[in-house]
Amino acid sequence: MLPLADRLRKASRVTVITGAGVSAASGVPTFRGVDGLWSNFRVEELATAEAFERDPRLVWEWYAWRRRLIAECEPNRAHEVLAAWSRRYPKFSLITQNVDGLHERAGTTNVVRFHGSLWDLSCWQRCAASPVRWRDDTVLFPALPPRCPHCGGLARPDVVWFGEAIDPGVLEESLAAIDCDVCLVVGTSAVVYPAAGLADEARRRGAFTIEINPEPTEATPRFDLAIPGKAEVVLDELESLMMRR
Ligand code: APR
Repeated sequence: MLPLADRLRKASRVTVITGAGVSAASGVPTFRGVDGLWSNFRVEELATAEAFERDPRLVWEWYAWRRRLIAECEPNRAHEVLAAWSRRYPKFSLITQNVDGLHERAGTTNVVRFHGSLWDLSCWQRCAASPVRWRDDTVLFPALPPRCPHCGGLARPDVVWFGEAIDPGVLEESLAAIDCDVCLVVGTSAVVYPAAGLADEARRRGAFTIEINPEPTEATPRFDLAIPGKAEVVLDELESLMMRR
């Protein structure tokens, strides 16, 4: 850990890519694994455009449940350390697959929301009157599904569903962000593309790449360094070492 803390201390361009594991200690369920959301719910019934078209109310009930659950959660030590880094490094980017908003709540600047946000809505019909997305922090919706305030049609959660493309602006920002000295990938199973390919691209461009995850992933052998451990523990330890030296 000491050589890594040293490397991080000397780096000027740091990029961190996070997944659901970073929010696990906050009580936000991950997607895969024994207790993961996808062990209890079916992707194709809840997280695709086809599912929404078929049953918008069912999809919204699931999202409304997740919004209620996450509204009760607080950022954990992993979010806090990353927020501190975002203020300290001259060039720091955080690309997250998480839609929970906990990085922002911890005070992280420069967050790229690769898969959108649970707290943003957009018009399903993409009506000309509405902005691309709008923020809606409602925890208890008076009625489901919520409506577009501009055309009265259906509103959708502004997240990236399976089969949907990443917003081109977000992709561009992410590809710029992976030009860095050190790229850390924290708490993701690395199975969902294109997010899972970002660290490979960072490495190809010369970054030192590190994975932090208590379990090995498909991507583990492709990293320069893999640290088996929980995000909230490993990042806390790294931060202590960096501050001490
Ligand atoms: N610290 C670090 N990692 C952890 C922790 C922890 N405390 N707890 C669990 N993990 C790891 C697991 O070992 C697993 O590899 O977090 C990873 C979570 O993986 P997934 O549940 O697959 O989450 P993620 O990789 O973010 O999923 C990618 O899939 O369903 C979609 O859109 C959704 O953005 C999501 C995408």
